[in-house]
Amino acid sequence: MKERILFLGPPGAGKGTQAQNLVSKCGLLHLSTGDLLRAEIKAGTSLGQQIAALMVKGELVSDDLVLAIVKHNLEGHTGGWLLDGFPRTINQAKALDTLLAEIHQPIDIVILLSLNDDLLIERLLNRGRVDDHETVIRHRLEIYYNQTAPLINFYKSKNLLVSIEAKGTVDDIAMNISKVLG
Ligand code: AP5
Repeated sequence: MKERILFLGPPGAGKGTQAQNLVSKCGLLHLSTGDLLRAEIKAGTSLGQQIAALMVKGELVSDDLVLAIVKHNLEGHTGGWLLDGFPRTINQAKALDTLLAEIHQPIDIVILLSLNDDLLIERLLNRGRVDDHETVIRHRLEIYYNQTAPLINFYKSKNLLVSIEAKGTVDDIAMNISKVLG
């Protein structure tokens, strides 16, 4: 089974939901940069306050900061992992390649979860996180299409990308993910 996995997709596509599902079955390390950043906010540090100010507006946190977080968590880990919400920019993807080459852990597969904007917005409005207000959601989508969607071609050109329609039940989508993981 492929065990160095990257989940790519717009906000609300179900990356976090499917990641939880998969790691509970396969025992992979789940690294969600969104969750790690929210933990920093919860800890009430001054860094957490800076992160909160960006997140509430739907802005991305700096590449350097998320890279440092990912590096800290991946280095020394020998088993499989699932990256969710990272990378989000071409710069982050290139830095990740450098890091993974250093630790001899190439990506096995990139799974793109795709869904149309209306359904994404509906799902996020139903969830109601601090950054789940309609104007902020639309801004997050704009950032996704401008800065993260270019990663689709980046990973296609490396023959790593598999696209899965994120519509339907959580279980149906999980089954389709299991099939591509082998
Ligand atoms: P992050 O936490 O990564 O949020 P996101 O990418 O916007 O993704 P979401 O968590 O909103 O969606 P998801 O695809 O995980 O869907 P989920 O499973 O939750 O990032 C938040 C912020 O942190 C960013 O805006 C940025 O500020 C910062 N950040 C994070 N990473 C960064 C990075 N690398 N660089 C810079 N900044 C970074 O599902 C959504 C909802 O839909 C849930 O309610 C769920 O129950 C429901 N749902 C899921 N699947 C289904 C289904 N099949 N049917 C019906 N409902 C479903």
